[in-house]
Amino acid sequence: MNGDKNIVWHTASITREDREALLKQKGVVLWFTGLSGSGKSTVANAVEKKLFEAGKLTYLLDGDNIRHGLNKDLGFTISDRIENIRRIAEVSKLFTDAGIITLTAFISPLREDRDKVRQLLKDRFIEIFVDCSLDVCEGRDPKGLYKKARTGEIKSFTGIDSPYERPENPEITIKTGTQSVDVCAGEIVEYLIDNGFITG
Ligand SMILES: Nc1ncnc2c1ncn2[C@@H]1O[C@H](COP(=O)(O)OP(=O)(O)OP(=O)(O)O)[C@@H](O)[C@H]1O
Ligand SMILES: [Mg+2]
Repeated sequence: MNGDKNIVWHTASITREDREALLKQKGVVLWFTGLSGSGKSTVANAVEKKLFEAGKLTYLLDGDNIRHGLNKDLGFTISDRIENIRRIAEVSKLFTDAGIITLTAFISPLREDRDKVRQLLKDRFIEIFVDCSLDVCEGRDPKGLYKKARTGEIKSFTGIDSPYERPENPEITIKTGTQSVDVCAGEIVEYLIDNGFITG
């Protein structure tokens, strides 16, 4: 039970620092946020591939897959959306504690929710704004979701009849409407090198 005084935090004998030394990298979350179709999954996969080829240990948590398992009991009400992000943040925290470079690809439209994740992960949180206009995203419509949102078959769709709040101070912004997947992924890897999360 939450706050139960009989639940005691157990201090592990192997620390995050020990695991990071073993892996020769720092545990960190690359939190992709942006409209549906902006390219979160596409760029996150490209980044993961580059890192894997450089011998780095990574893990990608992606929207739909999580809703099939961990969060399959959650729907799309406001409280379920908040709980969805909260669980993903807690799982990401465990992965970073394991020393893993964790990539998450969720629309995560609300600033308040993303700020909560930032507070939880502190300096191990890198917010990546996948900046792409609604017109371009809707033109791509890789899953046919915008079409359904426009006809009303899907309700509360981000960008159509539900808000997307742009990040105010993201660590990284990538412009997927004008830059290639490879260039966007390269910028993110550069950031990790420049900030000491991995060595070049
Ligand atoms: N520069 C680019 N960066 C990323 N994706 C691009 C780029 N140019 C074209 N695309 C295409 O845009 C689409 C982006 O779809 P993707 O599934 O990655 O979006 P998403 O943000 O993960 O959406 P959702 O929130 O619905 O999962 C893909 O079909 C991809 O091939
Ligand atoms: Mg996706």
